[in-house]
Amino acid sequence: MPTYEDDYRLSIEDPSAFWRQRQSEIDWFKQPTETLSQDVNGSWRWYRDGTLNSCWLAIDRHIEAGRGEALALIYDSPATRTIEKFTFNELADRVGRVAGGMRQLGVGKGDRVVIYLPMIPEAVISMLACARLGAIHSVVFGGFASRELALRIDDAEPKLLLTASCGIEFEKVIAYKPLVDEALALASHKVDSVVVKQRPQVEAAMSPNRNLDWDEWEREAPDADVVEVSALDPLYILYTSGTTGKPKGVVRDNGGHAVALTYSMNAVYGVDAGDVFWAASDVGWVVGHSYIVYGPLFKGCTTILFEGKPVRTPDAGTFWRVIADHGVKTFFVAPTAFRAIKKEDPQCKFLRDYDISSLEYLFVAGERCDEPTWHWLNDHVNVPVIDHWWQTETGWSICANMAGYGLKEIKPGSLTLPVPGYDVRILTDEGFEAPPNTDGNVVVAAPLPPGTLPTLWRDHERFEASYWSSFPGYYATGDGGFRDEDGYVYVMGRTDDVMNVAGHRLSTGQIEEAIASHPAVAECAVLGIRDAEKGQVPIGLVLLKDGMNISSDTLETELIQMVRTQVGPFANFRRCVIVTRLPKTRSGKILRQVMRKMVDGDVFSMPSTIDDPEILSEIREDLTEAGLIAPTT
Ligand code: COA
Ligand code: AMP
Repeated sequence: MPTYEDDYRLSIEDPSAFWRQRQSEIDWFKQPTETLSQDVNGSWRWYRDGTLNSCWLAIDRHIEAGRGEALALIYDSPATRTIEKFTFNELADRVGRVAGGMRQLGVGKGDRVVIYLPMIPEAVISMLACARLGAIHSVVFGGFASRELALRIDDAEPKLLLTASCGIEFEKVIAYKPLVDEALALASHKVDSVVVKQRPQVEAAMSPNRNLDWDEWEREAPDADVVEVSALDPLYILYTSGTTGKPKGVVRDNGGHAVALTYSMNAVYGVDAGDVFWAASDVGWVVGHSYIVYGPLFKGCTTILFEGKPVRTPDAGTFWRVIADHGVKTFFVAPTAFRAIKKEDPQCKFLRDYDISSLEYLFVAGERCDEPTWHWLNDHVNVPVIDHWWQTETGWSICANMAGYGLKEIKPGSLTLPVPGYDVRILTDEGFEAPPNTDGNVVVAAPLPPGTLPTLWRDHERFEASYWSSFPGYYATGDGGFRDEDGYVYVMGRTDDVMNVAGHRLSTGQIEEAIASHPAVAECAVLGIRDAEKGQVPIGLVLLKDGMNISSDTLETELIQMVRTQVGPFANFRRCVIVTRLPKTRSGKILRQVMRKMVDGDVFSMPSTIDDPEILSEIREDLTEAGLIAPTT
């Protein structure tokens, strides 16, 4: 059994050799002979001449191996008080028919399908059904408002949209169909068909020409067999927030993704076929794609689809109940969820009601795990609490304490070491390697390992500009941090205008676009400021148009509503302040990072490019008056 050090060294010194060894962990229709190569546009590609099918790897492969009656998926929904279990055979049956239904609607290899579904089995089934046909799914998180859904429809140009009549958020039932109808009206691209899963909580109004009832559609559909695809064919597009209001369509290919995720299940998370793995995220985020759906199923694990919240569904013991009921071995969740539990159950008393002895590892990611939360978990849960770091772009972890190799020393606040395949460096702004314990830009030297993004959907120029132009030869993660004297990596936060609100990634530009559409607003800046529960929350600084007579309370109420309806409620936009000027560089770029640090009370240096340093003092006064900065005595 190789050590972490052996594998890491080989993966960096000879990436092809390392990943050639890993390729046999999956079954190919045609084994690749070319492990690593470059596209004409310079992108690194893995397993170019291999062919496979990701749905076959997630389901059929296990059935052929005699595990058809093993549990593949557990749908545990405190939101509806339902638990439903699917064996690999049962999942195959439903996925085959949904794929057949899609094919009857004209969906084939390379066609896009937008999935706007809550956390119900149909979400997993439809993703796998797309994979079965070689169609490309693009799942949109249910919390996004119509405008965001429309942006994604226009970019992905799907033939088909799959949705449900509603989602459930605590006691609120959110009707999805009106949101979908509005998005379709806003979008320029015309979607041929919309299939709606009617849930008992809400009956969606159907338009006979364009809408199909899911249950009837699936019941009448023939079974569809798998379609052989190239390793380089896209499996999905997942839109994520960049620094502007336009989302980035991260493309994931089939081959590298299957190899990397299969490897990660044991190497990172310490699980094997038959183990129960639970990622308490949402299928709309990358964690949901990689570790609710594909990773655990590729490995033959049982995966859990949880439709609930850490608290109030019905109480702060719900996570412990799920772990105990289903025998979860590895649990993966965002720290914000534990901050919510800690607030309601500071002594972690609910844990005493459950036997969670099946649990061996607790992984956290999605945002920086603050030390108080890490210590709270470490004090109450008798398993290693492992912080690890990754992004939508990479699809799997960049740094982790890897359970499969035997855990290293855990240092609270650190992500431990780079995962094999990731040559992580810390660079100064000038592009030089930073010495240990010195903050810099966290980058990864090319080539990135399999599973990471080869491009952005139909926007290769933006891919190059966003990730590869700041430090030529290195992938810029957009995160800042450092390595200590033992090489342990610490990620402290974004160096760009991306925010992380309760584990949800948002761009300041996305919210600014909504605010700027208010008739009284001349200019605005959104900052993601520190928040004890959500990690970060956005605040808006707004300049009014001349002659506008609107009270700050009225403006705030209207802007909050606009952000909810244009971006989505999960943005948690609740505060805005009217200011008279915004600090900018001489070239006109708003200094959001400087203002954010000022509000958070972090050290910052006055940029030499600032056009008028006085403006910062004015902003400080405005924000102090608004109660967002503590007054200095
Ligand atoms: N559909 C519709 N609305 C949604 C939504 C969804 N899928 N998700 C959140 N919202 C709404 C909430 O209902 C709430 O609305 P309100 O302002 O009307 O009350 C608002 O958005 C804020 O949501 P959020 O900040 O997420 O708070 P919450 O109390 O609903 O949930 C957590 C708290 C911790 C459970 C949740 O933030 C969470 O699971 N975060 C982790 C995200 C994650 O997994 N990220 C991936 C990295 S691991
Ligand atoms: P997303 O693409 O939504 O997964 O968000 C990725 C971003 O979340 C990263 O670029 C980081 O800023 C942040 N992030 C994810 N995991 C961690 C972590 N463990 N520690 C610190 N930041 C994290």
